[in-house]
Amino acid sequence: MTAKDSMTIRRPDDWHVHLRDGALLAGVAPHTARQFARAIVMPNLSPPMTDSAGVAAYRNRIMAALPTGSDFTPLMTLYLTDRTDPDEVARGHAAGVFVAAKLYPAHATTGSAHGVTDIAKIMPVLARMEAIGMPLLIHGEVTDNHVDIFDREAVFIERTLIPLVKALPGLRIVFEHITTTEAVQFVESAGANLAATITPQHLHINRNAMLVGGIRPHAYCLPVAKREHHRLALRKVATSGSAQFFLGTDSAPHDKRLKEAACGCAGIFNAPFALESYLAVFEQEGALDKFEGFASEHGPRFYRLPLNEGTVTLERSGVTVPDEIDVCDAIVVPFHAGETLGWRLRV
Ligand code: DOR
Ligand code: ZN
Repeated sequence: MTAKDSMTIRRPDDWHVHLRDGALLAGVAPHTARQFARAIVMPNLSPPMTDSAGVAAYRNRIMAALPTGSDFTPLMTLYLTDRTDPDEVARGHAAGVFVAAKLYPAHATTGSAHGVTDIAKIMPVLARMEAIGMPLLIHGEVTDNHVDIFDREAVFIERTLIPLVKALPGLRIVFEHITTTEAVQFVESAGANLAATITPQHLHINRNAMLVGGIRPHAYCLPVAKREHHRLALRKVATSGSAQFFLGTDSAPHDKRLKEAACGCAGIFNAPFALESYLAVFEQEGALDKFEGFASEHGPRFYRLPLNEGTVTLERSGVTVPDEIDVCDAIVVPFHAGETLGWRLRV
């Protein structure tokens, strides 16, 4: 096989994923473990993972759900609430129970009802995290009903992120699943303590995918996909080689019936073909040489973790994404359902 027909890179990681719990965990975790060496696991379960004991127990359930022989390491996160204790955060981080903490503004998205109502309430926690160098992962959307849903990320930057970075310049922040030109510009201007993850869906689709020709619930996630010019800005920066931007799928499975409903859940299940999906973008942008940095290098460097040993190979052989995937407890419609992608992960 010539170099053009295959691509071998250092094993990649997913810096943002929802692995769920119970039977669904057993159904979805193998897909992530097949594609990635490590993943940052979101804590928005019901109830959320708000203390060390809960996070440690959840990690054990993930390990138990993996197929025998998996070489996969879940990297756990703590769910911040108005009542999070700075000492508990520092202890759990020092003990290696969790590598980061997640800030969900209360009611911003699925499983965020116990999130933070006002960032002022957790400033002592954030100051401690700044002192110990622990990353803060942020779902960056305001929840104010007066703000249009398509503007919620940009308004969050103005109202929350700019003041936060000013108040705690040493705090290391991952602005998760960015969707706008404003977010790209903010991260670039903020310097090395700021990074952002970018999902495959926000590189592939704009808001038309959700709304043209009928309402398409499987294209709905939060933050919602925006206008085309935002998508183009995300593609440009993801494929630019900038170390501040890296892979985070935000794979978020929901049963088909819960998405195809009068009030459908937010979330796109992209884990089974995540690398294939990202690689299609890098190829279209003429940036195959930038893929390894985005997928396998920028994330660990930001998190101050070792790069993975070992490699994965993608072949230019094409793979058709199934219309539905049975994940034990649920039938889930994956991202790119029914489409054929140009590369396939060799297993
Ligand atoms: O679309 C989303 N789904 N966005 C989130 O922030 C949460 C996620 C989920 O847990 O389903
Ligand atoms: Zn998420």
